[in-house]
Amino acid sequence: MTQARRHLVLIGLPGAGKSVTGRLLAALLETGFTDLDDRVVERAGTSIPELFVARGEAAFRELEREAMTDALGRTPHVIAPGGGWACQPGNLERADVAALIIHLRVTPVTAAARLGPAHQRPLLAGDPVSTLERLWDLRAPFYERAPVQVDTEGLHPGEVAARLLAVAAPRAGW
Ligand code: S3P
Repeated sequence: MTQARRHLVLIGLPGAGKSVTGRLLAALLETGFTDLDDRVVERAGTSIPELFVARGEAAFRELEREAMTDALGRTPHVIAPGGGWACQPGNLERADVAALIIHLRVTPVTAAARLGPAHQRPLLAGDPVSTLERLWDLRAPFYERAPVQVDTEGLHPGEVAARLLAVAAPRAGW
């Protein structure tokens, strides 16, 4: 029996490489790619920092949830939500049937180094390493629920994408 194809959803801390790796994986699979933050920006009509200031995080999370519902309703493809999506109540459960959830594991120190100083993430204002450590403590229980765990430490996005192509995509019918 052939397995029905599912979306591949990449989760993990900001700086885990979800967007870069997701784009590469989609190219390898010759399929589409959704960067969920881009869809939220389109829906909001403002940048994410502006959205957080003007309407608050709750409004951002609602638009993010809607954008994911829309993406999951499309033909199976690769989806990279922002780092907080997986940690909102019900989001992982709602995506579970239509998608294989993959956690790109990274340490807070490496994540901060990958993001660099020019990032535009409202939740990471101040010292990014200590903020990412705090986020990791809160979020690890959600990220660790993903059935596929991939350690990205010391790997380039191309290497992570190749690993996902080999070990994760076949589990989702690709
Ligand atoms: C967020 C991460 C960001 C973006 C928003 C909130 C978070 O995406 O969705 O700033 O809560 O961790 P990245 O994970 O791509 O940085």
